[in-house]
Amino acid sequence: MSKEYNIAVIPGDGTGPEVVTEGIKALEAVSRKCKVAFRFKEFRLGGEHYMENGTLLPDDVLEELREMDAIFLGAIGHSDVKPGILEKEILLKLRFELDLYINLRPVKLFPGVETPLKNKGPDDIDFVVVRENTEGIYAGGGGFFKKGSPHEVAIQESINTRKGVERCIRYAFEYCKKRNKDRHLTLCAKTNVLIYESDLWYRVFEEVQKDYPDVQTDYQHVDALCMWMIKNPEQFDVIVTNNIFGDIITDIGAIIQGGLGIAAGGNINPEGTAMFEPIGGSAPKYAGTNKINPLAAISAVQMMLDYLGENEAAETLLESIKRVLEYDLRSMDAGKMGFGTSQVGDLVVSYI
Ligand code: IPM
Ligand code: MN
Repeated sequence: MSKEYNIAVIPGDGTGPEVVTEGIKALEAVSRKCKVAFRFKEFRLGGEHYMENGTLLPDDVLEELREMDAIFLGAIGHSDVKPGILEKEILLKLRFELDLYINLRPVKLFPGVETPLKNKGPDDIDFVVVRENTEGIYAGGGGFFKKGSPHEVAIQESINTRKGVERCIRYAFEYCKKRNKDRHLTLCAKTNVLIYESDLWYRVFEEVQKDYPDVQTDYQHVDALCMWMIKNPEQFDVIVTNNIFGDIITDIGAIIQGGLGIAAGGNINPEGTAMFEPIGGSAPKYAGTNKINPLAAISAVQMMLDYLGENEAAETLLESIKRVLEYDLRSMDAGKMGFGTSQVGDLVVSYI
């Protein structure tokens, strides 16, 4: 008998629910084709739900999510909720409480998709960012002193533990080996200014490197790396970096791979559960209009299959996404070709 996976589904806000519908459609098609089974359980979390009954991420929900094989998240964000609340109490809380310490963000330009980079194509833009996902300035350390007065002081601390840094770097080396492309890992930090935190990252990187003699390494300061991502993206295979640098550089990554309509990411605890999401946000303006391209959500599901070790299913879905882009959409603007959100989902299913 094939394995049955328990998948938590969090459609969330804005266009989240409609892209999640397409992701599940793709999963169900793959399930029929590749003999892998899914049991879905939906959880209502997000701004909409918070406005209705005041709850964000209750403990019992968290405990249930912990037991799931994987979580599929649409988007969380609401224009009527003060910025920071949903992020901190739902998204970041999920990352921290489930210890999803890796944020894996592939930056891959598919054939047929336009990149803003001149003279660069799919062979040039194909790398993966491994972002630490539970520490750094996201840990929320710091505080105000004399808040609101002319003498006020704001302190935002970056917390980096040896354990946290090491497990992230080790994961990146392992991932780089398994990916087996150039076997080249770049450490991105800022050793010339962040003399404590980047120093720790650099030392741990050098230490862990000894266990991976078959992986080539180099180091780049984050500012220079931003420049090289635009100028020579082909030099990158896998990049490992801290939480905030990873946040910033993966937005550059998203735009050079064709934009938020295609970019997906995984929040992973390699020893526990994992959560996959399109990284585009809730786009409330487009909610319910059948206009948003669901390929980012479908790519998130593709990453989920890969994470679950369902290689045939993951490969099948990846091929289908590529074909839709190359033969049907021929750009990220599906609307221009007359395809709405659900039609793009149908196209993917047709190739599966
Ligand atoms: C991301 C987002 C989040 C982050 C926000 C919404 C808290 O930008 O997933 O990249 O900063 O990590
Ligand atoms: Mn971000």
